Amino acid sequence: MAHVIAVAGKGGVGKTTLCGLLIQYLCESGKRPILAVDADANSNLNEVLGVEAGTTLGEVREDMERAGMDTQHKIPAGMTKAAYLEMRLADTLIEEDDYDLMIMGRTQGQGCYCFVNGLVQTQIQRLQSQYPYVIVDNEAGLEHISRGILPTMKTAILVSDCSRRGVQAAGRIASLMKELNLKPEKVGLIINRAPNGELDEGTLEEVKKQELDLLGVVPHDDMVYQFDCAGKPTVQLPKDSPVRAALKGIVEKLGL
Ligand SMILES: Nc1ncnc2c1ncn2[C@@H]1O[C@H](COP(=O)(O)OP(=O)(O)O)[C@@H](O)[C@H]1O
Ligand SMILES: [Mg+2]
Repeated sequence: MAHVIAVAGKGGVGKTTLCGLLIQYLCESGKRPILAVDADANSNLNEVLGVEAGTTLGEVREDMERAGMDTQHKIPAGMTKAAYLEMRLADTLIEEDDYDLMIMGRTQGQGCYCFVNGLVQTQIQRLQSQYPYVIVDNEAGLEHISRGILPTMKTAILVSDCSRRGVQAAGRIASLMKELNLKPEKVGLIINRAPNGELDEGTLEEVKKQELDLLGVVPHDDMVYQFDCAGKPTVQLPKDSPVRAALKGIVEKLGL
């Protein structure tokens, strides 16, 4: 069984950025191959990693829903719907040297995300034995966690910025996991974008109040932001980047 790591937290706090750097660090440390899962409907982990997005699970879901309904969405002759689904799912893995990336994506179809959520869950369950690590970048909502999509997660990394609201959101996710009896072996918090890498007293107070285990603090680094604005993959940050160094320290502390 793979070590499933889920990254969660409020929107815009740096989950995807840190996820990408975590994947890069683990690959460089020989902890490969990794299954990277972009479980945000508004996917962009591929941009942080610098890879082209392919077919998403959401697209497969839509095609399957329309299969057989018009000439564009035909199931090949002699193929069952189940076999066709298998074939399409195989297309959703983007294979890189050190990791494979699976993107959930969104669906425009009516109804809820249930089907795609279900696909994410079954795909992780089916594929995980082939990888020592599965890293899941979650969306800001509590959807995946509340629906129990990640029952097998071993490590939950909660990310927050320096705001109390961010830390409170992380606290809520931690409580929800307890309520759902998910029991990851480790639940820890990373505070990201700290000015000069220093934690404010007020933020620290909130971390204590929420009873969260602080794994580490990642500094705000203008270069991360500039790379983002220029459309450059975050993984191309220089090796001595303070953000990469901070993340390395955290991963070592986690013993991954
Ligand atoms: N340590 C950091 N220093 C500066 N900018 C950062 C840092 N971490 C993330 N960012 C920027 O913050 C924005 C949101 O990050 P992102 O990883 O997309 O957040 P999330 O996935 O939580 O929504 C992006 O523009 C990203 O480049
Ligand atoms: Mg994100």
